[in-house]
Amino acid sequence: DPALAELLNSRIRDVPDYPKPGVLFKDIAPLLADAEAFAALVDALASRAKAHGATKVVGLEARGFVLAAPAAYAAGLGFVPIRKKGKLPGEVYGRSYELEYGSATLEVQCDAFEPGEKVLVVDDVLATGGTLSASLDLVRQAGAEPAGVVVLMELGFLPGRDRLTEHLGGAPLETLVLV
Ligand code: PRP
Ligand code: MG
Repeated sequence: DPALAELLNSRIRDVPDYPKPGVLFKDIAPLLADAEAFAALVDALASRAKAHGATKVVGLEARGFVLAAPAAYAAGLGFVPIRKKGKLPGEVYGRSYELEYGSATLEVQCDAFEPGEKVLVVDDVLATGGTLSASLDLVRQAGAEPAGVVVLMELGFLPGRDRLTEHLGGAPLETLVLV
């Protein structure tokens, strides 16, 4: 939807040299603070959840939580968090992924899903694809099926989409704003 993309993109602020020199940071704070744009974003995510027949919406800590939780509510679905290592109690599955320097680990609770549940995975940005690749693997490991992935922004100059392909298992990847 070009009108939606334009509205959302108009509320994303470019911050040069953050978090380090040479990086152009895409700040979604103005979008979240704008009632009209935020509602349009949440409604779009909720409609994707319904279109894919999702039974849960999964959000990725931290910025993914801000989008996925209201989308789950708007779609009438439950929300499941994928969190950074050490934040979830009880039995968890974990997946590590590469960062620019070193690696990080994401976790999901082993009993987060009923067997065979279909889930929509939501995050704010697809950059290198490491975060979403690990998250899709975790969803499957926990016994659910990714019905789709929606990201607010895709950084088209990075190979995130290609990297994600093998982890999607045929589930659609949708981007609301291509940067
Ligand atoms: C950011 C962003 C995405 C991820 C995308 O999260 O919110 O989740 O990077 O990058 P990738 O495609 O290269 O994995 P980050 O962990 O930096 O911080 P957050 O806790 O603020 O979401
Ligand atoms: Mg993140």
